[in-house]
Amino acid sequence: MDGPRQSRLRNFNDDPARVLNATDIVRLIGEVVQLKPKGREHVCLCPFHDDHNPSMYVVPSKQIFYCFVCGAGGNAFEFVKRYYNMGFREALEMLAERAGITLTPWKGEAKTDSDPPAVDRAALAQANQQALQFFRGILNHKEHGTVARETMAKRGIAPEMVEAFLLGAAPDKFDGMVQWIRSKGLDAKHFEAAGLLKRREDNSHYDALRNRLIFPIVDQMGRAIAFGGRILNPDDTPKYLNSPETPLFQKGSTLYGLWQARNAMRDTRHVIVTEGYTDVIACHQAGICNVVATLGTALTQRHAQVLRRLVDRVTLLFDGDEAGQRAADRAADVFFAEPIDVRIAVIEGGADPDDLLKQEGGVERFNALIDAAEDALAFRIKRLTRRLADSGQAIGSQARTRIIEEEAGRLVELGLGALSPMRRQTMVRQLARLAGVDERTVQAEIAAAERRLRAAQARAAEHRADAQEGPAAELAIATGSLRPADWLLGCVVVEPKLALDPPTQPEPHAKDVAWRPSLPELRDALALSAYGSGPLQAAGARVADALAAGESEVLSQWLLTCEDEAERRALTALAARVDRETAGEPKRLHAMFLDVARQCARERATTASETRDADSIAQQLAAIGQSHRTLGGNPLAVARGAPE
Ligand code: UTP
Ligand code: MN
Repeated sequence: MDGPRQSRLRNFNDDPARVLNATDIVRLIGEVVQLKPKGREHVCLCPFHDDHNPSMYVVPSKQIFYCFVCGAGGNAFEFVKRYYNMGFREALEMLAERAGITLTPWKGEAKTDSDPPAVDRAALAQANQQALQFFRGILNHKEHGTVARETMAKRGIAPEMVEAFLLGAAPDKFDGMVQWIRSKGLDAKHFEAAGLLKRREDNSHYDALRNRLIFPIVDQMGRAIAFGGRILNPDDTPKYLNSPETPLFQKGSTLYGLWQARNAMRDTRHVIVTEGYTDVIACHQAGICNVVATLGTALTQRHAQVLRRLVDRVTLLFDGDEAGQRAADRAADVFFAEPIDVRIAVIEGGADPDDLLKQEGGVERFNALIDAAEDALAFRIKRLTRRLADSGQAIGSQARTRIIEEEAGRLVELGLGALSPMRRQTMVRQLARLAGVDERTVQAEIAAAERRLRAAQARAAEHRADAQEGPAAELAIATGSLRPADWLLGCVVVEPKLALDPPTQPEPHAKDVAWRPSLPELRDALALSAYGSGPLQAAGARVADALAAGESEVLSQWLLTCEDEAERRALTALAARVDRETAGEPKRLHAMFLDVARQCARERATTASETRDADSIAQQLAAIGQSHRTLGGNPLAVARGAPE
């Protein structure tokens, strides 16, 4: 049997399989998310939705991951694709490199529907990586790098830091990079897309970054995805120019220095978030390596999510200037309900960490500041106290209550409900004390705010309900009730051998000692999934096909080669479900398999009789059709004439 589908799967080279075999999904995911062993599995906060309780499972025996809340799941490729926002080819290359595997050279025709942007992303990534070489080359250039080198020396940036942070320089020319790109025969279009070249009206290009110190921004694998450029001439503006956002680079989730800080973060389970490029470098140089920075933007919830996966404690360190104060206030909001220990420190007197560390005894003062950082709740309370105090005697008790009410409403919006009861109680107590009312009044105020919020959320959910599709379908598979045919499909996906060589296992009380489904029976049963709806439908039919062709190797790579996104995700959800229900024990899996195969056989018998009914209906329809042709095309005439 050699249908077109099978030959396509057969021709698939074995690179993905080799790479997958050499990859341990637990280590892969463990590198970016904190995994906790739980029985045979590992659990973690799901990086693909705003997860507060570990709902992602990593199953070593199956080498898959699955989130029971958002439905994200799959094998190592799926994880890399989603987590690093890559196309399949990119993910394959990354995992191959990690595993030390050389890939078969790619002819470039193996694009799939879900992949087209991969080419653009790859081109962007390559342009950034090439630009990095250019900027680094300029820094070392006898003439064009002079000012940058002098500036670094003046600021006391150590050569080791220049290396660790891959610092570079942009020459004081409009066509430095333009010429270089031309001399290398590269495509300016990609550099323009990366924001490194700008286009004039006559379509010629010029350098976007000129006469600047270059701070490469790297992703979690150390590859350049963007650049920050600081002026070298104090008269130039703006002080910093950053790459625009691209598919590779989003300011709202990227943190400068995360790659360089990753080991220290993992070791200390603590990260310090500063505001500037130079602050990160100064800290690393002082031996404080668990430090990152935002990129000239406010801290976002997405930053919080990235950090939360890696550490248990975040200390937000803000400059003492007014902008820093405001940023601290905002951050206290963003991190309020995050389930990690968040502290806030503000450097007094307008200095930034870089300035501080350069002072006499700076490192000690820096460390003292971090140690004394305030809990985000305490920070809020203190700010509120200050606000009340600032309004002075003039403020009446009613106005006071008003301020507290506002704060209660704000806290509810920020996720007070997600706080632990203890933290919630602390908040209530402090608010009550500040307002000069009893705790019950504050509680009541919060309850009212929560009711308002729930009502608003319910309204929003109604609007969304219709739009739900993919994840909902997978969730139904992961947690809802399934038909025997679906279970059967799940068993086969988990253990393809079952279908090709079904086990024989007497049921304890059964008279028929060694019942065993025949292959055609199994195939029919699996094809039954095709009568269902949703993504399992197609999957069931395809597995049945592969089964008919005796292609166990196809089955075992099913999750890998299945090109339909919805199908692959549905199968993963199903496999995870079966694996959980059988606790990963072959014995229980065999028992389930036989059990559901039996149910399927029974169901098939019923279906067969229904089919007979259907046949007679078809005959009737044919008869009606015949009379229709005889009587003419008026359906009403047929209906009326039917009793005949
Ligand atoms: P700062 O003005 O505090 O600069 O901006 P800095 O990092 O301390 O740099 P030095 O020490 O003066 O050289 C803090 C951060 O804000 C962003 C940059 O990320 C910077 O590191 N920023 C600042 C911009 O994005 N654009 C600007 O024009 C200024
Ligand atoms: Mn500074």
